[in-house]
Amino acid sequence: MPALACCVDPAVAPPGYALAVDGSLYPATAVVPPLAGAPLSTTTASAAVAAVDAVEDGSFWSPSLSSSLYRIDGWGAPYFAVNGSGNISVRPHGAETLSHQEIDLLKIVKKASDPKSVGGLGLQLPLIVRFPDVLKNRLQSLQAAFDFAVRSLDYQAHYQGVYPVKCNQDRFVVEDIVKFGSPFRFGLEAGSKPELLLAMSCLCKGNPEALLVCNGFKDCEYISLALVARKLAINTVIVLEQEEEIDLVINLSKKLSVRPVIGVRAKLRTKHSGHFGSTSGEKGKFGLTTTQILRVVRKLDQAGMLDCLQLLHFHIGSQIPSTVLLADGVGEAAQIYCELVRLGAQMKVIDIGGGLGIDYDGSKSSDSDISVGYDLQEYASAVVRAVRFVCDRKSVKHPIICSESGRAIVSHHSVLIFEAVSASAYEAPMLSSPGLQQFMESLTEDARADYGNLYSAAMRGEYETCLFHADQLKQRCIEQFKEGILGIEQLADVDGLCDMVSKALGASDPVRTYHVNLSIFTSIPDFWGIGQLFPIVPIHRLDQRPGMRGILSDLTCDSDGKIDKFIGGESSLPLHDLEGERSISGCGGRYYLGMFLGGAYEEAIGGLHNLFGGPSVVRVSQSDGPHGFAVTLAMPGPTCGDVLRVMQHEPELMFETLKHRAEEYNSGQYNDPMSNDALASRLAQSFHNMPYLVATSSCALNAINNNGFYYCDEDDYNAAIVDAASGEDEQWSYCCA
Ligand SMILES: Cc1ncc(COP(=O)(O)O)c(C=O)c1O
Repeated sequence: MPALACCVDPAVAPPGYALAVDGSLYPATAVVPPLAGAPLSTTTASAAVAAVDAVEDGSFWSPSLSSSLYRIDGWGAPYFAVNGSGNISVRPHGAETLSHQEIDLLKIVKKASDPKSVGGLGLQLPLIVRFPDVLKNRLQSLQAAFDFAVRSLDYQAHYQGVYPVKCNQDRFVVEDIVKFGSPFRFGLEAGSKPELLLAMSCLCKGNPEALLVCNGFKDCEYISLALVARKLAINTVIVLEQEEEIDLVINLSKKLSVRPVIGVRAKLRTKHSGHFGSTSGEKGKFGLTTTQILRVVRKLDQAGMLDCLQLLHFHIGSQIPSTVLLADGVGEAAQIYCELVRLGAQMKVIDIGGGLGIDYDGSKSSDSDISVGYDLQEYASAVVRAVRFVCDRKSVKHPIICSESGRAIVSHHSVLIFEAVSASAYEAPMLSSPGLQQFMESLTEDARADYGNLYSAAMRGEYETCLFHADQLKQRCIEQFKEGILGIEQLADVDGLCDMVSKALGASDPVRTYHVNLSIFTSIPDFWGIGQLFPIVPIHRLDQRPGMRGILSDLTCDSDGKIDKFIGGESSLPLHDLEGERSISGCGGRYYLGMFLGGAYEEAIGGLHNLFGGPSVVRVSQSDGPHGFAVTLAMPGPTCGDVLRVMQHEPELMFETLKHRAEEYNSGQYNDPMSNDALASRLAQSFHNMPYLVATSSCALNAINNNGFYYCDEDDYNAAIVDAASGEDEQWSYCCA
């Protein structure tokens, strides 16, 4: 352990100062508190406290302590747990998963990312792993919760949900939902024309009774398309989002000779107080006021189409925090529903919108945007009870209950895996006694006086004063460097000395920056945009004590590209030492982190900041084969060429331009590592590769890890170029598939 006495070397007393106040050497052990890793803040959740204590005292560690530390039982059950090997395991069938059906997430990552030559799929990280079994289990659990509430509350109609495709429009996710939901008439919700097109085409394979709810602002084309969908025998409902839409619906349905089914979105007075409720309430952005609803009813009546009005929709907001608020909103909407029945509409369905929340931090709290104070069953029972209560009082036939739960269906089904490639380290150079002597001599007189004060304070054991003088010395030297009085070597020595002092006194920042091969803007946009927190956990090494704390810094050239807030109110994450892992075989020195519960919204919202595109994707099903899982789909992420094309660049032309430039300017001969062929091949390769950092082994370069960047020494670089150049001819050209 470095001790303050080592930093301020007693043997190098500043000129004019005594060796020590009492002439004796300062006892190093008494001066400096031992610095065993970083001090960890305690967390309020009782389950995590024992784990935190264990981190602090550095004693025994176990997978179950990791489970508590990262609160996995809270947010992950019944789908995620820590297995005996210290890896995250996935329980694809939720609570019904048998122990032999659990899937080790690390094995999937290895299968996906190992080179093809050793049986892997050769995919580059970051990686999204989708679990259709989890999706199926979520759908079935939601349906089962409503079925139970309907039965136990003697409700006289059924529940029939729709999935709002905006949460994740991925083709396979939507197709899976339609397929898995077909036995219970599960449908889709669209909010735009392309979403409507995809919903129409997917529902051709769905249950004929499944609803296609058309929300969002509409023009002629949107409404015509929805009417065409009815012609195609898809159970389509046009939900009026704005009053003006009614005229279009009446006119177009007459023109196309289609009898529409119409819904109306009500602007409720019930207001949701959290972030996601900012557009709810009387002044909310969406839906029709009571006055507008009455005008719509009159218009439909005049057009002889009041029987077409069959559905009432509302949406209180996402992440509804409590069943009290939920019941309040559903009760208000049920009153409107009953009034529409009284006014003569042929009402059939009450569509309660989305809002079924996810407990991202496992706290089951109704006071935060990232948790909710209920489970699936409590949610379903609150809805059914509230609708039944109002309808029974008004003697109105119980309506079919529809919900547009998005987050609750897709959040758990995917895990984003990314790699921490390096961590910032304490780098203060140790100055030898002669080095320190030399350094002191190079200082100006006033800086030497600062050092003298620092030295005296250290000898007296006055640590606050030490820090004060160390800072004074540093500031003075920075000023002198700016004036050109001090050289860069002296400035580095001063930095090193001051870092050493603060580290020895426990005053240095113990939190490291872990550089991750990821774009937060692309893959976790809600963290950047609205401060949404997701559970982030190492997916392996959970049988080892995480001795560090870190924040995560991404690849983008943007100061917002970092994660420094984590569930549990933490400003850093317990993490493992990367250096320790490099010497351990098994993961090839890799350190993988998983971001969980991000299956809703993140993929759809993510952008292209710095032209980092989406991750690679694998779709993994539980199987009874030897590995316990089968990869049913593997998709590499977008290449550099793909993302350039999104911004209207033409990668093929760009390649040609650069190739001609090489022919014009490069003098390299055939077989030269810098020959035109080799250069063209490298250029083509760059267009074909993903924008993320390439793992050392897959680019065959001996990268030297340096604060998140990969460097390679010249020999290896040249060798790799030769390899590339001597490779197949098709590398010469760049063409899109
Ligand atoms: C109209 C509508 N329906 C459904 C949803 C999905 O909500 P959630 O993901 O909270 O279930 C939303 C999302 O905000 C919405 O605006």
